[in-house]
Amino acid sequence: SDPSSSRRGAFIVFEGLDRCGKSTQVARLVDRLEREGQKARLQKFPDRTTAIGKMIDAYLQSKAEMDDHAIHLLFSANRWECAAAIRQDLNRGITVIADRYAFSGIAFSAAKVSRSAEMGLPFDFCLQPDRSLPLPDLTLYMSLPQEEATQRSQFGEERYETVTMQQATRKQFRLVAEEVKKIHGGTKWIDVDARGTIEEVEERIKGSIGVLTDGVIGRVGELWV
Ligand code: TMP
Ligand code: MG
Repeated sequence: SDPSSSRRGAFIVFEGLDRCGKSTQVARLVDRLEREGQKARLQKFPDRTTAIGKMIDAYLQSKAEMDDHAIHLLFSANRWECAAAIRQDLNRGITVIADRYAFSGIAFSAAKVSRSAEMGLPFDFCLQPDRSLPLPDLTLYMSLPQEEATQRSQFGEERYETVTMQQATRKQFRLVAEEVKKIHGGTKWIDVDARGTIEEVEERIKGSIGVLTDGVIGRVGELWV
């Protein structure tokens, strides 16, 4: 029998600050896999096409105001509404490549400095709503040093695209990485050097992913479980 039939698709997540080159690399990866004849699809978070996604989009464009807790839960709900389809695709042998996931959810919300307190939302509050979502087999954190990020930062108009917010989020991403390694082990999260040309970064990513896109043995895990 075909040995590949016992393998499921890999769930690969890309994370990082705004303007780190993440979306470019995700698109190139999905293109490459398709050219190689593999079954792969892109999943963007937030997915702005759904009803919840439209609320998130309005918030990010400052067309709507929302309590910090409420928007945090909407970002999570936006993942939950896609979770069954992700699981199903993985089990059908499709590699799912996500552009952001729960880790952005935690890092950005925890980084917020509210007017009433000196801290963002409590880290533990940020973590809980995503508990038992599909667990990524690998998260690639696109790491750009602060100086390079500042040089690149042709920020857009969206809500979190400020130097202060990005610096605070950078710190939270370190804590998120530690949490992933603590709960799920050291192999689930890799920092990828995002400096250099698109091709150089692409090569590093290819090296980090290795044979994962050939399929994974074993069930899809649960996040934070
Ligand atoms: P995008 O630019 O990749 O579309 O993401 C929009 C912004 O939303 C970006 O600044 C990161 C932020 N974000 C959260 O705050 N929480 C989340 O759960 C996700 C997925 C993104
Ligand atoms: Mg953006």
